[in-house]
Amino acid sequence: MKPVVINSPDQNKERKRLDKSNNFEEFKLDDSLKSIGKDKLYYLYTYGCQGNESDSEKIRGLMEEMSFTITYDLDKTDVILMNTCAIRKNAEDKVFGEIGRLKQLKRRKPELIVGLCGCMAQEESVVRKLLTKYQNVDFIFGTHNIHSLPLLIKRVMENKERVVDVLSYEGDIVEKIPMVRESKIKAWVPIMYGCDEFCTYCIVPYTRGKERSRLPENIIKEVEGLISEGYKEITLLGQNVNAYGKDFVDLKYDFADLLTDLSKLPIPRIRFTTNNPKDFDDRQIEAIKNSKNIMPAIHLPVQSGSNKVLKKMNRKYTKESFIELCDKLYKAIPGVSITTDIIVAFPYETEEDFNETLELVKRCNFEGAYTFIFSPREGTPAAKYIDKDITEDVAYDRLYRLNDLVNEGYGRGNKRFLGQTVKVLIEGYSKNQNDILMGYTENNKLVNVIGDKKYIGEIVDVEITDAKTWSLDGKIID
Ligand code: SAH
Ligand code: SF4
Ligand code: F3S
Repeated sequence: MKPVVINSPDQNKERKRLDKSNNFEEFKLDDSLKSIGKDKLYYLYTYGCQGNESDSEKIRGLMEEMSFTITYDLDKTDVILMNTCAIRKNAEDKVFGEIGRLKQLKRRKPELIVGLCGCMAQEESVVRKLLTKYQNVDFIFGTHNIHSLPLLIKRVMENKERVVDVLSYEGDIVEKIPMVRESKIKAWVPIMYGCDEFCTYCIVPYTRGKERSRLPENIIKEVEGLISEGYKEITLLGQNVNAYGKDFVDLKYDFADLLTDLSKLPIPRIRFTTNNPKDFDDRQIEAIKNSKNIMPAIHLPVQSGSNKVLKKMNRKYTKESFIELCDKLYKAIPGVSITTDIIVAFPYETEEDFNETLELVKRCNFEGAYTFIFSPREGTPAAKYIDKDITEDVAYDRLYRLNDLVNEGYGRGNKRFLGQTVKVLIEGYSKNQNDILMGYTENNKLVNVIGDKKYIGEIVDVEITDAKTWSLDGKIID
């Protein structure tokens, strides 16, 4: 069937940053769409970062406002939605593998509707491949038009068309999209969308558009609503939360202001992710220091410990300024846990450069890190960097050496709490043992405890009785 292409992705347009002002909109679902999902089930896959998890909560909100019901059983579902991630090749391979598997299901159930959205939908090459090789995908929409889902799904259901609608512009801010949140205890709160950093390896500025901040009053209103619903923890989301507000044209209000205002609200725990060292300033550190409810756990991606590599990555800070920032954080926020992201085997990274990364990991006392092998992303500058010296063996050798060191940090970060009494927000039963409760400390350490289900959703005092590399054990002190 020939697809109806309303809009398709165009990386040259995605790269542009011309429109300085933000366009704000409010979503409203047309009454005629409110019951199109009656007696129908949907299944939702979510890949990628917290931004995508948050988008999936909007997708659930939209589906449920159209009267669809969620299912976790693929055999029973009428609609499948895949919210995808494009950050590395293996993220995309996972999605293509799953779509391949769904071909069989679709053969058995030809009326099944499959939709794909998220960051992969914003890539020209992916959409081309889906349209030619994956006939079982019925519709594709992008990160800028999640709110088009109702109209698109209606078209696919009623006209039996294949539809593509992916916008390649800088992006708007759309408020009031309904949400069904995953948890009743912890909530994601996006404070900004997009990214203007253009780190040379990264696809996000193309797939998510320009950096644009939500208005403070909308964020504050959302958090007040969460408090009244009994939420205990919020995590503010953005690709570079430290740059929040820099895009406001007539408003002088930045991330430090937002932290200060939110920390005055009666929410027990505030977290934020992710930070870009280059925009993490002293006022923000002061705001954290002066608050009681901003948690002492900071995720501060460094990517590399070599100034040469940082420059090639377009990270706009140096090893020295990064160390200085860590030192400031350790001094201002006693006991803070700092974690990071690191890419190894970036083109032109030599053994000496890599050793500088290892040194930096030791120097900064990280208590955890997400580590990755560089993955070339089509259309980004670094995809054109060629370095024949970095073979797959070299890359994996560096990754394993780095991971050994990082794991020591995880262990050290947990051991320092042995014998102490810490506050834990109990979230539910442990995944592996269903009679054990689990939760996180203020420093974001996973704790398992024996206890009654009445503690779920509560912040309790826990005495730490054992510290392992990946988790702590403890007992609740009543
Ligand atoms: N905005 C965040 C990062 C979001 S992506 C920041 O700047 O810190 C999450 C992590 O994925 C990055 O920190 C980086 O370590 C990794 N990453 C991004 N692009 C990558 C690529 N092409 N290859 C390997 N890792 C990558
Ligand atoms: Fe990607 Fe850099 Fe933006 Fe993070 S700051 S999303 S790594 S371009
Ligand atoms: Fe992936 Fe897009 Fe997030 S590429 S990491 S889902 S911003």
